Amino acid sequence: MYSMRMEHPQSIVILDFGGQYAHLIASRVRRFGAYAQILPPETPASALQGAAGIILSGGPQSVYESGSPQADPKIFDLKIPILGLCYGLHWMTQALDGTVMQGKVKEYGRTRIRVEGSGSCQRSMLFHACPEEFVVWMSHGDEATELPAGFVRTATSDACANAAFEDPKRKLFALQFHPEVTHTQHGNDILRSFVELCNPAPWSVKSYAAHIGDVIRSEVEDHKVFMLVSGGVDSTVAFTLLDSILGTDRVQGLLVDTGLMRKDEVRQIEEALGKLKLPNLRVEDASEEFFANLTGVYEPEAKRKVIGDTFVAVQQRVSAEMGLTAEQGWMLGQGTIYPDTIETGGTKHADQIKTHHNRVQMIQEMIDKGLVVEPLKDLYKDEVRKLGEELGLPHDLVWRHPFPGPGLGVRILCAEKPDVVDVPSVENQKPGIRSQVLPVKSVGVQGDGRTYRHALALFCEDPFSVPPEVERLATEIPNTTPQINRVLLSMSHAEPVPFVFTPGFLSRERANLLREADAMVMEEVRKAGLYEAIWQFPVVLLPFGTRTGGQSIVLRPIESTDAMTADAAHLPESALRAMIERIMTLSGIDMVFLDLTSKPPATIEWE
Ligand code: XMP
Repeated sequence: MYSMRMEHPQSIVILDFGGQYAHLIASRVRRFGAYAQILPPETPASALQGAAGIILSGGPQSVYESGSPQADPKIFDLKIPILGLCYGLHWMTQALDGTVMQGKVKEYGRTRIRVEGSGSCQRSMLFHACPEEFVVWMSHGDEATELPAGFVRTATSDACANAAFEDPKRKLFALQFHPEVTHTQHGNDILRSFVELCNPAPWSVKSYAAHIGDVIRSEVEDHKVFMLVSGGVDSTVAFTLLDSILGTDRVQGLLVDTGLMRKDEVRQIEEALGKLKLPNLRVEDASEEFFANLTGVYEPEAKRKVIGDTFVAVQQRVSAEMGLTAEQGWMLGQGTIYPDTIETGGTKHADQIKTHHNRVQMIQEMIDKGLVVEPLKDLYKDEVRKLGEELGLPHDLVWRHPFPGPGLGVRILCAEKPDVVDVPSVENQKPGIRSQVLPVKSVGVQGDGRTYRHALALFCEDPFSVPPEVERLATEIPNTTPQINRVLLSMSHAEPVPFVFTPGFLSRERANLLREADAMVMEEVRKAGLYEAIWQFPVVLLPFGTRTGGQSIVLRPIESTDAMTADAAHLPESALRAMIERIMTLSGIDMVFLDLTSKPPATIEWE
């Protein structure tokens, strides 16, 4: 997927061992003003001549397993700074003749570390802006038990003696934790210190915008581009960028109404793009076709594939009708951004978490034929937004919450029969709090791998002032109960009630019900002035309630900076009450829950 060629001299290269975080590292590095490029771990050292520094990412495997990803040990001869993170630390340790073994305990989540070095002993250059103790994000089972020659320990945690170590002479650094995730305090200071000592060439979104014009022109040659516009930030910025580079007569937009969009969304997109004077936009109502194809489809990945394939079928039909075929000189534009690529297992070693609709097989075949242009595929969300502003797009459009391509399709849980599992009740441990397992599963991510597990609902007397024990349970339960990857709080019921399951797939009726609930939530979020403070706010429909045919709603407000990690956002009581009161007036909705889980162990969306 990635070339083994460096695009910019004096940039930072991330060798991707397949963790979920390689792109996050790159996006952080870019925010410090250096270009960061991700390359496969097996990239030969000779191809990395001229790099300013190398970061070795984490990854899901154990370095001592056969077939685990390996880098070229000659990178140590390049005499540039190298930073190994998690698996990157393990690989570096092993490659330089240290020892890596399975640790006594697996550590997932927040951990306190103590920085070594005071008095005569020098503190690490990476920790010069950090206090003596701080909290970091760990996600590992293995650890370095013997350091390679020349290395000194620079930090330690209760569970991991060698939480950080380095060879200051050769500028080789190793961290067992993830400085790139927001849960790590001072993570930015640590990464910035590493980037600074690499002394890279300067880079910015502005300079990227200037450079991408040439790249797009050479990829597109004399084709015209047909662009699927969803109204989300990415496809709108990509459409505008292509329009600005190739000219309006070479770019045609198509907005497919899938029936899975938000209330009034199609009208709002038409209005916004109309104001931008991007006139080549056709709107096609294909909702009947989507619902027909989704009848009787229950499994999350199968739903995504049907949505993706229907999208492409509609696009092909409309493009044939409009004469926008490859034979007539047209190719397809997409607003794919970097994280979409990694989450589909686009990099060789990443575990597949979810299939993104812009990487289904039909699209992949077109990519292979050189008939797809993705002008944002190297950028992160915040960079896409900056680029949108550079292009003169309105603030409200650029700062819209991200909305997944398959739309409400991934927020309407489908199941043919209830899926039940037994887990111990929390009541014995926490008086006043009761629990009940949901009869459906959702997707999560733990230790760099995908999970598909049950959610546990908690019940308590006053859910509006979310008790601290409940918050603690939301972290503890998925770590200690292997069947559970999500924890919810019931907002409509103080005590468990028998769940009544009703089989459901993706129908227009269910989409309409969720659309109403979602619109109510968004209205209350805006009214409370919270829209820009919250990263994203999925509202999810579950196929069970307290009566036959009844359903439930989950509120999933999220705080994040890049969607790679996230925390449940705290909402003011008044806003939460207003949302729940309104949702409970909807006919067909019996219960409302609040999702309290971080990512990891849950993902932002439920599917
Ligand atoms: P997860 O649920 O994986 O989501 O934590 C991370 C971010 O990606 C969005 N998302 C998608 N976006 N197509 C998209 O264009 C998809 O299939 C898709 N699935 C998840 C999600 O909304 C969040 O912002």
